[in-house]
Amino acid sequence: MSKGRILSGMKPTGVLHLGNYEGALRNWVRLQDEYEAYFCVVDWHALTTLFEDTQQVRENIRQVAIDFVAAGLDPEKCAIFVQSDVKEHAELHLLLSMITPVPWLERVPTYKETQEQLRIESASYGLLGYPVLQAADILVYKANAVPVGRDQLPHLELTREICRRFNHIYGDIFPEPEAALTECPVLPGLDGRKMSKSYDNAIYLSDSSETITKKVRGMFTDPLKLYKNDPGHPETCPVFAFHQVYSKGETKQIASDCRAGMLGCVACKGRLAETLNAALAPVQERRRQLEADPSRIDRILADGAERARAVASSTMVEVRRVMGIGSTSMECGGLTPLC
Ligand code: TRP
Repeated sequence: MSKGRILSGMKPTGVLHLGNYEGALRNWVRLQDEYEAYFCVVDWHALTTLFEDTQQVRENIRQVAIDFVAAGLDPEKCAIFVQSDVKEHAELHLLLSMITPVPWLERVPTYKETQEQLRIESASYGLLGYPVLQAADILVYKANAVPVGRDQLPHLELTREICRRFNHIYGDIFPEPEAALTECPVLPGLDGRKMSKSYDNAIYLSDSSETITKKVRGMFTDPLKLYKNDPGHPETCPVFAFHQVYSKGETKQIASDCRAGMLGCVACKGRLAETLNAALAPVQERRRQLEADPSRIDRILADGAERARAVASSTMVEVRRVMGIGSTSMECGGLTPLC
């Protein structure tokens, strides 16, 4: 029996932090053993908001790809590639845009949210079409499942609607992709708010162990615990939230010692820095190896794109055929005389 196929994508917003790791990458690393897996740095999606800053997008692509591999995605097991290296995504996006009603897109919550957050006065055609491009990313691989966080469910629902509409009009060629949600812990940032690059409160996968120790030392703690022997409230403490993720098996003890006023914040942070550094040591080691051989990431991305293209181009042959697109001589992109 063939393994199911999964695809997921991440925008190249810059170096990735522990929130990105816990929210997505950790899960991807697990799934690469169970599925035929495709992981894509979605640079065209980034252009929906960063179109004036293409140089930054370009630099970020590399950083994100390095983070993918450092986090444990294994290029032998899965295809790691850049969206714009596989032009079939764009072709399918265009064709799907023909069958996607504009009101479906206007209803997607992220469309309004992005405009409000970034104070965009008149949204671009590309921003409105963001979820259609995402549908193309997924359907061009005929993915069965898409590992995403909850925030992506509206996009995935739209992908499924577009998929059903396509299959209804042209014949069943796409499997309906399911969301592969996993419950993941929400890691707060160093200051207790959501971990985010823009709040400057993140721990990055690329941070050195010294930086991590320093950042942990500066973390916010329970504001009611002023002295070492004051009883603390672990449920409100960001340091404890980290312990719950990284110090499994010890959290009960940590919580009760904290509540009893037997564990001071300095010691508690020292323990956290140690466990975090131990957890990230393999990530840091893989990053060192990648940095010692700068062309390796280029080879990984080139090879990933080639494997992705093989699947995407055969899907497009089928799509053009069922839709009746192109002169007959070009039905196969003019390349494969087999169909
Ligand atoms: N919209 C996703 C996000 O912001 C990124 C994305 C683009 C994606 N294409 C995808 C995720 C395809 C899963 C599958 O996180």
